[in-house]
Amino acid sequence: MAGERLARFTRTERAVHWVHASAFLVLLGSGLCLYLPSLAELVGRRPLLKTIHLDTAIAWLVALVVVVVVGDRSSLRATVREIDMFDRDDRNWLRGRSAPQGRLNAGQKLNAIITAAFAVLFGITGLLLWYGERDTRFRFAQTILIHDWLMYVSFVLFLGHLYLSVIHPKTRHALNGMTRGWVDADWAREHHAKWAADHEVADSLHLPVQKVR
Ligand code: HEM
Ligand code: HEM
Repeated sequence: MAGERLARFTRTERAVHWVHASAFLVLLGSGLCLYLPSLAELVGRRPLLKTIHLDTAIAWLVALVVVVVVGDRSSLRATVREIDMFDRDDRNWLRGRSAPQGRLNAGQKLNAIITAAFAVLFGITGLLLWYGERDTRFRFAQTILIHDWLMYVSFVLFLGHLYLSVIHPKTRHALNGMTRGWVDADWAREHHAKWAADHEVADSLHLPVQKVR
């Protein structure tokens, strides 16, 4: 039916996404100013940039904990279970074959897993960089290299993610799901056929479907 909407992300899921995205962007910006000599020279104030970088890392962790504690944890648990399950359609999709997809396609599931793993690795290497300045037993030559490589890879992933979510005409409608919480049912049927079908069956049986909160 034209104009029909499907609830896509709860308020809690959106809050986790935007907290993560904003912290990542400030960390990337301040990190690049620490890393690139030309930017470091332009900005000039290295101690301030370092403070911004470290304070953002702490604020990132605190904000995520707050969202998880006060938010709708059951929707987050369901999302984690969903991301953790790759069925035959997901495997076919990853092999480049056409296959109907759930709420997140297999590429998005991989992106979510990499994002979570990288957040942990950024945290561990960042903590070692910080603590290594205070206690030389925790200073390892590889730590900064790993931190830098995580930055390169996540920067490239982020550019691809940004292109798909705000520029590519076929996928940019997804931004509505991450800002307002819902998407057009026709778009969902085209891109996430299994999810749209499940949603409609649940709706017709009057079962609880995810609400826009
Ligand atoms: C929990 C998260 C993080 C913590 C605790 C952390 C901590 C640190 C610390 C202590 C440094 C060394 C600063 C210095 O002495 O010059 C550093 C450098 C840096 N960080 Fe992070 N960081 C985190 C996340 C990130 C993220 C998400 C990015 C980018 C996406 C990033 C990019 C960088 C870069 C590019 C440098 C400069 C490295 C170099 O000079 O080779 N960091 N970080
Ligand atoms: C201005 C920046 C960003 C925009 C406009 C944006 C937009 C979006 C949108 C629209 C979705 C939902 C996709 C869908 O419903 O199909 C999404 C999901 C997601 N975003 Fe972002 N995002 C941004 C930054 C980031 C950053 C910096 C990260 C991580 C470092 C990130 C990680 C994710 C993940 C893991 C998902 C779920 C899986 C996926 O859709 O790939 N996002 N984002």
